[in-house]
Amino acid sequence: MSVDATKSDLVLGIVGTGIMGRGIAQIAAQAGVTVLLFDAKEGAASDARNSVQAALAKLAEKGKIPVQDAEAAVSRLVIADSLDAFSVADIVVEAVVENIQVKHQLFQSLEGVVGDGCLLATNTSSLSVTEIAAGCRLPGRVGGFHFFNPVPLMKIVEVIDGILTESWVGETLTSLAVRMGHTPVRAKDTPGFIVNHAGRGYVTEALRVLGEGIAEHHVVDRILRQGAGFRMGPFELLDLTALDVSHPAMEAIYNQYYQEPRLRPSPIARQRLMAGLLGRKVGRGFYTYTAAGAEAIPEAELPAVQPTSVWVSSARPDAHAAVTDLVTRLGAPLDTGTAPAADAVCVVMPLGTDATTACLAENLDPARTVALDTLFGLDSHRTLMTTPLTAPNVAYAAHGLFGKDGVPVSVIRDSAGFVAQRVLAVIVNNACDIVQQRVTSPGDLDRAVTLGLGYPRGPLAWGDDIGPRNILTILNEMMAFYGDPRYRPSPWLTRRARLGVSLLTPEN
Ligand SMILES: NC(=O)c1ccc[n+]([C@@H]2O[C@H](COP(=O)([O-])OP(=O)(O)OC[C@H]3O[C@@H](n4cnc5c(N)ncnc54)[C@H](O)[C@@H]3O)[C@@H](O)[C@H]2O)c1
Repeated sequence: MSVDATKSDLVLGIVGTGIMGRGIAQIAAQAGVTVLLFDAKEGAASDARNSVQAALAKLAEKGKIPVQDAEAAVSRLVIADSLDAFSVADIVVEAVVENIQVKHQLFQSLEGVVGDGCLLATNTSSLSVTEIAAGCRLPGRVGGFHFFNPVPLMKIVEVIDGILTESWVGETLTSLAVRMGHTPVRAKDTPGFIVNHAGRGYVTEALRVLGEGIAEHHVVDRILRQGAGFRMGPFELLDLTALDVSHPAMEAIYNQYYQEPRLRPSPIARQRLMAGLLGRKVGRGFYTYTAAGAEAIPEAELPAVQPTSVWVSSARPDAHAAVTDLVTRLGAPLDTGTAPAADAVCVVMPLGTDATTACLAENLDPARTVALDTLFGLDSHRTLMTTPLTAPNVAYAAHGLFGKDGVPVSVIRDSAGFVAQRVLAVIVNNACDIVQQRVTSPGDLDRAVTLGLGYPRGPLAWGDDIGPRNILTILNEMMAFYGDPRYRPSPWLTRRARLGVSLLTPEN
């Protein structure tokens, strides 16, 4: 069995012409495909056609596409009054409500209409493609074709193979995706597929940091934006996607993986959801929104005090020179003694451990110790962490010094893995486990995450930049500190870190 997705007279049926259906219709029509549109709601298919027409007209107006191409694309959108019109379809994509009974019923009706060679695809985000296919007479022709909203702008689509899906289905959907100008990534049918699974770590770990009282939400956002390079902070992201969408998704993936601790949702999110603090769309989430945008939360003022002298730990030789150079550049006297002088501020640079553990390991005075995160460089942002006993004047002096050259400084309470170290370690570890489970290939994982989530790097390449051994150390230290299996390293990470090779290294 096969369908040639490149043929000029390809007919694509779309059932469900809401947000997703109309987006898929637009890119298919622009790629020269004849598109049949059907929706159970009266008038919905023609609304979809009108909205695609308006979107294409706008693109033509802006000079992004020729007017005649826009008109030709619209002429390929055909409204179907009933599913019977789908008898001529080569491929059908459904984008109806996310409900297994509705999808089962729809696929049964479709199988009564389409030819046996017609490929049936589902755009489901959270249901099992295998379960949808299992209700069909010919389950081998059913696959997942998971787009992202807004479809014309999010140029990625996950092509999902269910257990019963025959190989030609994925090949055909891959070729159709390319024809429509999208990047296809192949994935096995597993909860959250690639993007929604890989994206769990960012927000769940940020919520843990908040839950532990380590830092306020806007401080966490700033560290991850300015320090680690994310486009949006996790709390800004939660406000944008809205908790009534993201929290149920977090719960669904967690439960479908039988309470996998790596994917554990946060009670904070559930409580805020119940309180109606959904995010941007209701004007209040983690931030408050007005017509002018999100409220600005001022950062703590830079203290005008400086330390008498600074003693820098040598426990991490790789970070020692960078910190002593910086301290000198900022004009503070360096204490170079083997043990710190009585009035020196002690700076430790832990990897995966907290300030308390790092301070005790070197017999330092916790009242005079602060920790500095060096893993993401010291040029765009600096995170300082206190022990529970760090004296306020020591923390002020360290803050005053490290912010003296205008680089923003965030001061947080004690945390194994600061903020950025632990969030990145969790993201990289989850990505490693996705490829360990053979959900997808290392290359497709990184492609899917950069295009689907807008991360500056794919998690595996990012893990390589930070160093697989560093990621493994952070996780092992966090595992030892918290005793929480959430932080257990994936075998994929452990092996590649031990072997000293890239996290993108596949297995034969
Ligand atoms: N919205 C997203 O961000 C997003 C992203 C990826 C995937 N999805 C998935 O895409 C699918 C559609 O989501 P959406 O956001 O476009 O929903 P939507 O509510 O905007 O559109 C669904 C459409 O399906 C129609 N419909 C419902 N039952 C039908 C039936 N039995 N036959 C024909 N039409 C029917 C509705 O009238 C509606 O027009 C869901 O499976 C969803 O999980 C959504």
